[in-house]
Amino acid sequence: MRYGPPFSPVEISRAQGAYIFDHSGRAILDFTSGQMSAILGHSHPDIVRVVTEQIQTLDHLFSGMLSAPVLDLAEALCDLTPPGLDRVMLLSTGGESNDAALRMAKLYTGGHEIVAFSQSWHGVTGAASAATYAAGRSGYGPHGVGTMAINAPNAYRPAFGSSDSQDWQAELDYGFQLVDRQSTGSLAAFIAEPILSTGGMIDLPKAYLVALKQYCMDRDMLLILDEAQTGLGRTGHMFAFERDGVVPDILTLSKTLGAGLPLSAVITSEAVEASCHERGFLFYTTHVSDPLPAAVGLKVLEIIIRDQLVRQAALLGQHLAAGLNAIKAHHECVGDVRGRGLLLGMEIVLDREKKTPAPELGSRITSRCLDLGLSMNIANLPGLSSVFRIAPPLTITRQELETGLAILDEAITIETSAV
Ligand SMILES: Cc1ncc(COP(=O)(O)O)c(C=O)c1O
Repeated sequence: MRYGPPFSPVEISRAQGAYIFDHSGRAILDFTSGQMSAILGHSHPDIVRVVTEQIQTLDHLFSGMLSAPVLDLAEALCDLTPPGLDRVMLLSTGGESNDAALRMAKLYTGGHEIVAFSQSWHGVTGAASAATYAAGRSGYGPHGVGTMAINAPNAYRPAFGSSDSQDWQAELDYGFQLVDRQSTGSLAAFIAEPILSTGGMIDLPKAYLVALKQYCMDRDMLLILDEAQTGLGRTGHMFAFERDGVVPDILTLSKTLGAGLPLSAVITSEAVEASCHERGFLFYTTHVSDPLPAAVGLKVLEIIIRDQLVRQAALLGQHLAAGLNAIKAHHECVGDVRGRGLLLGMEIVLDREKKTPAPELGSRITSRCLDLGLSMNIANLPGLSSVFRIAPPLTITRQELETGLAILDEAITIETSAV
């Protein structure tokens, strides 16, 4: 069954570190960490060990039972996050974690209206997909009442102000004017990615989250931050919200928490948890609090801290950004390079001045990269933008980054000189 964009033409038989290998043994450098998840690279020896040991001793349990890996991971997450994020639930996927967070926000506030960005991706499950605007919105009937979107501020393509002086504050004010006009007085939450990945690696400007949180507080809404891709070191901070000094009411983690295995977390305050529990909060899944993925998550955190991967992401990110900017300097089709740490975007345009999106050229560069041994992903928002989402494992070496940059450079050269 086809479930999305076309399948990759290569069949993968093995993956190790920053490389995946096709059936002929050809090595392909993985610049997307699988689905933006494998932050430790593939088959990290410590993860292989913990999976092997854990499955031999304690794999899966009745959903109402707790176990040491779950309790230890919950404690470790609370230790890593600031006060106000003190209660943890462990689930399997990002969509699920956002569904749970949105249900909590509704129960806690008594409201049902959810606001998100019009370039967002929070998953394909019920409430998460209702709050997802980047793709897949049409053809499935109504999403239920109370879903609203505001525009995320895009410094490269500002809707307010100019490229030299983007006026994100005016854009946010205007967005909330529209929300207030549409709301039936039942606002529950705003859900946001600190860097909108599927939406084209849109990095929220510094101070934006502070202002957004204030807007939420003024309306008794909760702020949910979805750090599926930005969480656990990728941006050069353990959590992207640390840069802004904002603590969300609910934080969701997924992708990077299991480093490629299905594990997600919902983290909130003691007060929100207690109130939801009192009101009968129910989010009971088959794999909630499963010990096997929890043991993996615990090991992931241990490795990130032990091997100083947050710092590593910041340092390697500078190197990668410099390399991408060097490519931009001699390729007209690169309109912009942006992002933080090892979560970077490179926007492809037909014309730098007009900033015309170039999805077809982007797709050709992607295919050419694959032929040359580099796995890349381009996010195409039809008519809006074509952006490479570059998110290699945090364990990648400088040499491997150099290799990837050289392949990307060559692929762009070939595709832009083709008649
Ligand atoms: C920011 C963000 N949130 C949530 C999700 C959904 O996660 P999952 O596919 O694990 O349900 C994604 C997936 O791409 C994502 O990028």
